[in-house]
Amino acid sequence: MIEPLADEQLNAAYSPILSPLAWDLGHIANFEELWLVQTIRGREPMRGELGRFYDAIENPRATRSELPILRGDELRRYMGEVRERTLDVLDALDLEGSDDPLLRDGFAYELILAHEHQHNETMLQLLQMVDGYEPARIDGTVAGEPVVDGPEMVGVEAGTYEVGAAGDGFAYDNERPRHAVELAAFEIDRTPVTNAAFAEFVADTGAEPPMYWERDGEGGWLTTVFGRRRPLDPGRPVIHVDWHRAEAFARWANKRLPTELEWEAAAAGADRERANLDQLAFGCAPAGSYGEAASGSGAVQMLGDVWEWTSSELAGYPGFAAFPYPEYSQAFFGEGHKVLRGGAWATRRDVIRTSFRNWDLAERSQIFSGLRCVRDA
Ligand code: AVJ
Ligand code: FE
Repeated sequence: MIEPLADEQLNAAYSPILSPLAWDLGHIANFEELWLVQTIRGREPMRGELGRFYDAIENPRATRSELPILRGDELRRYMGEVRERTLDVLDALDLEGSDDPLLRDGFAYELILAHEHQHNETMLQLLQMVDGYEPARIDGTVAGEPVVDGPEMVGVEAGTYEVGAAGDGFAYDNERPRHAVELAAFEIDRTPVTNAAFAEFVADTGAEPPMYWERDGEGGWLTTVFGRRRPLDPGRPVIHVDWHRAEAFARWANKRLPTELEWEAAAAGADRERANLDQLAFGCAPAGSYGEAASGSGAVQMLGDVWEWTSSELAGYPGFAAFPYPEYSQAFFGEGHKVLRGGAWATRRDVIRTSFRNWDLAERSQIFSGLRCVRDA
C-alpha cells in the first residue's frame, strides 16, 4: 500500500481528522510490541517511552504530526525488529494448551492482525486525499460481477433472532455476549442505495452532495476516486455519505435507517468470501452484484462495497465485559457514536463478519460509508 510513497508523504498531515501515515505505521508496530512482546513475553519496551506517542486516546489525530514519532529508516527498522521479536514469541508459546484467555486459540495474534488490518483501511482514507497516489494494483474482476435483478426490498419476518458473535473464533468484546432479540417484521432494501437514487435526493431537496462529488456543469456529477476524476456511475452504491445525510435520505424515501440489530438479522447467512472486500477493487461493485451470495433474507452486498449506517448508537450488549482493554470499545459507549455494519471494498476480508460493529461520529464522511434503508412491514 505504501510502497509508491516517499517519506515526505508518509510524514505529511493531510487532514486534521486523520493521522500521518507514519503514525499509523509506528502505532501498528507499537501495538504489536505492547501485546505480544511486552505483555505476553514480559519484555521491557524496546524504545523506552516511545509508546506514549502511539497511544490513540492520549494523542488526538490532529496533534500526531507534531509528535516525536519514528520516521523514515528509523521507523522501518523498528517495524522490522518488532515483527522479528513477535515471530520469536510465537515460536516459544503453546497456544493450544493455554488457559490464559489472551493466548487461548491465539486470541492475541488474531487481535494484532485485526488491528493492523483495521488501520490499513484508515490509511486508505488518507490515501484518498494524497494527490497522485496510484494503487500498486487494482483487481477489476472483484467489482465486475454480473448484476442480478430483484425486488427493491426483501422481507424479514417478526421473531426472535440471535445476534452477536458465536462462542468460537475471534471476535471483539463489543460483539459479545451473543443474545436473543425480538424484532417486529420489516422490509430492507435488497441492495445498498445507489448514486442515481442519492443524486435524485440531492436534486429534490437541495441537500449537500457527498464528499468527492462535484458538478459536471451539465446537470450531472463527477467523482474523484484516488486522484482519478470520472463521471459518477449511477448504478453503483453511493459512498462517502455522512450519517445526517443518510438519515435524511431515508426519510425522503419514506423509509428509515435500520437498527444495527435489524441489520444483523437481515445479514444472517451472508458470505464474506463472495463479496467486494480486501482493498482489491478500489471502488464499489454495481448494486445487485454478488446475487449468488445473498443473505438468508435475500439482501445482497450486506458484506463489502460500503459500510452501512444504522440508527443505533454504540453501547455494550447486556452483560458486556471489556476484554482485553477498555479503550478498544468501552471508552466509546454512550458518546453518541453511530454504528456502521458490513464492511466496505476497503475493509480487509478477515476483519469483517455479520456481527462486527464499527462506529464513527455522525458528521464523518471520509470513511467508506453508504446506506440501505428499511421500513416496517
Ligand atoms: C473500530 C474503526 C472505530 O479506528 O478508531 C484501531 C479501530 N481501534 N485501533 C478506530 C481501532 C484501535 C477503531 N474503529
Ligand atoms: Fe489502533
